[in-house]
Amino acid sequence: MIARQYAQDLLNFIDESPSPWHAVASIEKIIQSFQFVKLDETIRWQLNTGGRYYVVRDDSSIILFVIGKRMIAESGFKIVGAHTDSPGFRIRPNGATSSNGIARLSVEIYGGPILPTFTDRDLSLAGRVSFIDHHGKLARKLICFEQSLLRLPNLAIHMNRGVNEDGLKLHKQNELPLLFAQLVDEQLPQHYFATLLKQIADLDAAQILSWDLAVYDTQKGVFWGANQEFIANSQIDNLASCHAALQAMLTESSLNDAESTLVCALFDHEEIGSKSYIGAAGSFLSDTLQRISFSTTSDQEDNVRAMANSFLISADMAHAYHPNFPTAYDSDHKVFVNKGPAIKSNANRRYSSESISIAQFIQWCEAVDIPYQRYTHRSDLPCGSTIGPIASAKLGIRSVDIGCPMWAMHSVRESAGVQDHEYLIRVLHYFFDNKAQ
Ligand code: CO
Repeated sequence: MIARQYAQDLLNFIDESPSPWHAVASIEKIIQSFQFVKLDETIRWQLNTGGRYYVVRDDSSIILFVIGKRMIAESGFKIVGAHTDSPGFRIRPNGATSSNGIARLSVEIYGGPILPTFTDRDLSLAGRVSFIDHHGKLARKLICFEQSLLRLPNLAIHMNRGVNEDGLKLHKQNELPLLFAQLVDEQLPQHYFATLLKQIADLDAAQILSWDLAVYDTQKGVFWGANQEFIANSQIDNLASCHAALQAMLTESSLNDAESTLVCALFDHEEIGSKSYIGAAGSFLSDTLQRISFSTTSDQEDNVRAMANSFLISADMAHAYHPNFPTAYDSDHKVFVNKGPAIKSNANRRYSSESISIAQFIQWCEAVDIPYQRYTHRSDLPCGSTIGPIASAKLGIRSVDIGCPMWAMHSVRESAGVQDHEYLIRVLHYFFDNKAQ
């Protein structure tokens, strides 16, 4: 029962988070009732032992932390890292065009989505706009078109006879613009789109200077399967791990009795390599950890000791075994939905796990009596990566890469197991709570 509640809560969280900017706003909303203090990076921080804080960088990366009772140099940081972004489409600045009365929005591809999954879906737009406010100042706000607004209709099979044999191939420049309106002759598509933005943002169109707009699928999350043992939604990779990290932190014991300093670090830009000032390869996490450390000691030696005593769990989704494609997997490292989090390892360090961090994670799984699985990618396929190797290298912190198995990673409609989500929350909670290390 509890697993189903967590899964329902996850589906709601995703439905309320159609873009990485909205995901961070959803997290801020969730923690409102937990007395977290929002910190501004431009202002000097005053931090107290036992205090709960968070800091947002550029609206789509967020770090939450609870300062533990023990000296940070001795107990270190316990960090769970994940990412707020998902692959898909971003609207180009001058993206609105029309031909034969049909207005379209041209897109850039963000990360590595499975392009054909975006066809024939009820798509819409979510993101943020920058504008000049009534006082002449630069301001920004989140916007979301709730209703279905955009579509990428398939070409009928009568004009694409080979589609079932050759697969659906979409030309990335020419065949991805999304249909969004039928215009009468005198309407200019750029102006028409600007008016739409103005309406949804409740602003004067002349004031909107720029935007970041992601395409999202308006279909809500569902349970499926004969026993409703699976979930489907967009962005399960990796909002599921963000949600699990948050649930693990928002418990009585983590919030009130933390000995070590607990950190949830949720980054944008993982899907495009993390290299940005808000991504895991940027300075956001190291800046934040240093400032926490500096708030308790001015001793540089202690700051380095704090890092040496720290541990990072990089939580990101794993590839569940798909029975229709048995040859896609290493036959000895299949991981299954609802059989526990997968520990991901890779000899070339596409994942950060090594034998010691793996052994520690196994101990924690055993302590809370949940199953775990071991995953390695096939050698004849390039392996994906996560924030794990990037963040742990940058910080000098031991790390393990783990995550719940899922199907159809990077489809606009992904699926995963109900039970796994609860397993993950339990082990992350134990990691935060465990007084032993
Ligand atoms: Co991911």
